Amino acid sequence: MSNVKFYSGENIPLEMHKVRIVQKLNLVPIERRLEAVNEAGNNMFLLKNRDVFMDMLTDSGVNAMSDRQLASMMEADDSYAGSDTFTKLENKIQEIFGKSFFLPAHQGRACENILAQSFVKPESIAIMNYHFTTTKSHIVLNGGSVEEILTEEGLRVNGECPFKGNMDIANLRAFIEKNGAENISFVRFEAGTNLIGGQPFSLKNLQEARKVCDEFSVILVLDASLLADNLYFIKTREEQCKNMSIREITRAISDNADIIYFSARKLGCARGGAICTSNEKLFDRMRVLLPLYEGFLTYGGMSVREMEAMTVGLDETMDEEMINQGPQFIAYMTQELQKKGVPVVTPPGGLGCHLNAMEFVSHIPQHEYPAGALAVALYIVSGVRGMERGTMSEERDKNGIEPLANMELLRLAMPRRVFTLSQVKYAIDRIVWLYENRNLIGGLKFVEEPKILRFFLGKMGTVSNWQNDLVKKFRQDFGDSL
Ligand code: F0G
Repeated sequence: MSNVKFYSGENIPLEMHKVRIVQKLNLVPIERRLEAVNEAGNNMFLLKNRDVFMDMLTDSGVNAMSDRQLASMMEADDSYAGSDTFTKLENKIQEIFGKSFFLPAHQGRACENILAQSFVKPESIAIMNYHFTTTKSHIVLNGGSVEEILTEEGLRVNGECPFKGNMDIANLRAFIEKNGAENISFVRFEAGTNLIGGQPFSLKNLQEARKVCDEFSVILVLDASLLADNLYFIKTREEQCKNMSIREITRAISDNADIIYFSARKLGCARGGAICTSNEKLFDRMRVLLPLYEGFLTYGGMSVREMEAMTVGLDETMDEEMINQGPQFIAYMTQELQKKGVPVVTPPGGLGCHLNAMEFVSHIPQHEYPAGALAVALYIVSGVRGMERGTMSEERDKNGIEPLANMELLRLAMPRRVFTLSQVKYAIDRIVWLYENRNLIGGLKFVEEPKILRFFLGKMGTVSNWQNDLVKKFRQDFGDSL
């Protein structure tokens, strides 16, 4: 995206890339979509892609790759140990983050496994701006717990706050003092905070948290999976960073973290994961686990081709014209929906456009999974697949009690450089129609509920026969349109 003004005065995000490889999409009729969603137990993860038109489930591993990335994949060195591909990636990570030691892993949650096994003791507490599903599961599996210390604005669905991913620094200090630094496994900052709508933290907030961590000798860990979006927001929203380059901001962030890890399915537009640090002691604690869970130290479960693509992808992430595509498309979609009165998370964040299901389907109680029901309804009326980020994505506690999520969001992810603006307009059109017909949407209930990460594999039924009414109304309004 570049800073190009339109004569018409319209505010349109303009792509600074062209499409050179395409994948055919299917838009199957609504009757088939209804069948497909029932075959999938009303779970978006269980749909087959051939039944999906716009796959807005996630940006993970599905971002468009560049010609430079694809070309680099032909030069990979397959050696089990000591491959040149590893050295290239290690050098790139050193160049960008300034960290001396690097561990490859097959994806983000594999890094979380290693971190949790290395630093989470039973009864210890991991403090974070907000949890992510897999992060929390790994911490809990290792006997620890999670404490979220977000600022108040972070949990408000709407507002002007530019940095809703910030930590409340006074509460952070008070919490460590009260619980004792020896009981804190680490403080974790998540860039582009996923579950609250892809919301960023500011560099200033991170620097302040760093001071507190230093005071108490607590490790600061950065989850940089969604760093690209966070970098863009720091550059465009934080006064002190306006004149810094993306590389300089990245380094300033990195200098405040003892350990950085990320899913390269998001950061770097490839498929893998990475942990890096300049602290040799911390590195040694994690390193021993790598051959056990991931693979040898120079590939960590990744394909070497993906490692080559990751090296180039990380380099391209330092280009503002590359990283602003996602946030600008998301802002466009969010603002167009807002104009039509559809409840969305504001200000627009990264990762995707987030519908506020609590308000969209305010007649559905939280224990009937409003965001999950909205995901199903939107798929039926459009073939657009989003992801529930609400109570379904939570886990029952030890006593089997289901915690109700702070927010009920339907996330419509915007994989980078994948969709065209006309496709985004199609999604907006169907969402607006659905909003006007929202009273036809009903709730869901679990019919099969796995104990761990239930949202991935669980199966749902509807609490009433609402889906057929929705299809009927669609046919009335759209005739024989797909
Ligand atoms: N941390 C964050 C902030 C994430 O968003 C993810 C993945 C992970 C860690 C785990 O990485 O998938 O490579 O194992 N988020 C994906 C999503 C799954 O759709 O939001 P992974």
